[in-house]
Amino acid sequence: MSGTLKIGVLGSGSGSNMQSIQDAIEAGSLDARIVSVVSDVPDAGILRRAERHGLDAAYLDPAPFKTKLDGEAEARTIAHLERRGVEVVVLAGFMRIVKPGLLARFPDRVLNIHPALLPAFTGIAAWRQALDYGAKVAGCTVHFVDAGTDTGPIILQRAVPVLEDDTPESLHARIQAQEHEAYPEALRLMAAGRLRVEGRRVRILP
Ligand code: GAR
Repeated sequence: MSGTLKIGVLGSGSGSNMQSIQDAIEAGSLDARIVSVVSDVPDAGILRRAERHGLDAAYLDPAPFKTKLDGEAEARTIAHLERRGVEVVVLAGFMRIVKPGLLARFPDRVLNIHPALLPAFTGIAAWRQALDYGAKVAGCTVHFVDAGTDTGPIILQRAVPVLEDDTPESLHARIQAQEHEAYPEALRLMAAGRLRVEGRRVRILP
């Protein structure tokens, strides 16, 4: 990889993380280009946001699977990303498990953001899990994706306090504010070639 980093974003939701990445690019603080936005949800906000920014946006039918991107749907997604020259795949609120086919095509080049301080609270609605558990600190994690669920090597984390009167919504909003800084920051490091995966550890090169 050299020059401007070509990013493909996969998302299922509102797309606020994709937006934060595009904002950093437009502000000139991230040397990258979002060359493809793909959603497994036909009316997802992420597709509308992408179109507002003039980005290439597409719904790809994930059938017949409900919780993973596999088989034909995985193959179609890989081909779609390849045709657009994607170098790094960014999962931004993508609510499916990605399988070895995609990971093998983009080795150490699939990133995810998770709304918890991993390895705590993997899976769905992690902010709610943290609140229900009684955690005093919550946060977000940007990590490389491996074959497990939310288990890959950690690139960076941001912590936030859990406040006495927090609701799931207020805590999620506080975490998301950090996500919107953490993802562009992780991609800045990636674009600068400063991330090296050594086993479980990600070294940040000077
Ligand atoms: C984000 O909070 C992200 O961390 C979470 O979904 C939200 C998507 O928001 N991802 C997961 O829970 C993945 N396990 P967005 O669509 O506004 O970026």
